[in-house]
Amino acid sequence: MTRYKRKDPEMTRRKFINAAMGGTVAVGGISLLITLGTANPVFRLTRDKMPPLKGDILVHAEESKEGQPIKISDLSDQLVRAWPMGKGEDGSNVIRKGDPNNILALYRFPKGQIVAPTVLEATVDGEVVAYSDVCTHAGCSVADSEQGDGMKCPCHSGQYDPKRGCVVIGGPPPRPLTQLPIKADGEGLVVTDFFIKMPYPYQHEAEWEAFKKEVEDQLA
Ligand code: FES
Repeated sequence: MTRYKRKDPEMTRRKFINAAMGGTVAVGGISLLITLGTANPVFRLTRDKMPPLKGDILVHAEESKEGQPIKISDLSDQLVRAWPMGKGEDGSNVIRKGDPNNILALYRFPKGQIVAPTVLEATVDGEVVAYSDVCTHAGCSVADSEQGDGMKCPCHSGQYDPKRGCVVIGGPPPRPLTQLPIKADGEGLVVTDFFIKMPYPYQHEAEWEAFKKEVEDQLA
């Protein structure tokens, strides 16, 4: 399984900001983030690096089908990887794979099997659910467990339960895989908001909140 390497400038920027904030979130640190994001055009996000956004449709990430809209009927209790796809500044479709941390894991379980702490209002009829597919420990792409008991990270054996909000059920990950709110649009799937909690590589919710605001400001 691929371990994504974060070499792009946006990731470098986040690392710099993490260092600048010294692991402690403070108002001054958030101001630094916002100032850096607005003062230097190099830091502006291209659409392909923006996180999943409201209105994005979910498309297949698997190479043979990449870019094809995912249908609810494509999904099962086996992980399907997806990218969010939105619009570029010229109105053309843009798959947001410029940031590898945007990769998603989709599942469809029989009604009643998805339970709290999954946010059921952010699923499709309590049956279809979307999560970040990037391990919160060190950023590897998480897969189905070969034992059929949830998800397993190939890097250090972190385990998650996709029927229960992707809570950690084994290994070193510090927190669950965050859920992405979605809704049905016919047979397809549409994003309704940002990730519910900070995705990898964020370490502080305030940092994630500041980043969301930076994205919203850029789109305004
Ligand atoms: S990167 Fe997933 S358990 Fe370490």
